[in-house]
Amino acid sequence: MSEKIRVYITQEEVENRIQQMADRISSEFAGKTVHLVGILKGSVMFMSELAKRLTIPVTMDFMSCSSYGSGTVSKGIVKITKDLDEPIEGKDVILIEDIVDSGNTLAYLIQVFKTRKPASFMICTLLDKPSRRVRPEVKVDHTCFTIEDHFVVGYGLDYDQKYRNLPYIGIVEFE
Ligand code: IMP
Ligand code: MG
Repeated sequence: MSEKIRVYITQEEVENRIQQMADRISSEFAGKTVHLVGILKGSVMFMSELAKRLTIPVTMDFMSCSSYGSGTVSKGIVKITKDLDEPIEGKDVILIEDIVDSGNTLAYLIQVFKTRKPASFMICTLLDKPSRRVRPEVKVDHTCFTIEDHFVVGYGLDYDQKYRNLPYIGIVEFE
């Protein structure tokens, strides 16, 4: 089966929205240093575009998680496969996600981060698909785009590890 990618959110729209979010975070955290934590690999492009636009001091770290389930159905069992390099205690942490779907990954990570005593903790995501949420307790602080239930790629997001490098967000169409 081959697939085609249809542009859903253009590069210009994505970058304008990231700029708005960066401005908001820079003023919200004026006088502080924010510690960005990216969830690999999907958040990498969003995190770097956001970080470049922040006018406050920034530090960065990364974590990698896997979620188990059969096929495309997540069972909500999440495991950390690469932990942070640095402790987050006392830091103003912003967790950076590519997309919040079922919410299982974040539901787990919120618990993990709480036990590590950051000074503050916030969640920032490029995309949110609220119609797919199975963990309503997961509250996202900043969302660039709320989208319908489409499988999207680009700007860090993959289909079968492909298309992460697209500079726009596209919908996968199978032919
Ligand atoms: P959740 O635990 O179901 O919220 O899973 C979120 C993760 O699933 C994201 O970080 C992505 O890696 C992946 N994911 C969910 N929806 C999409 C999509 O439309 N395209 C690509 N990856 C997706
Ligand atoms: Mg992810």
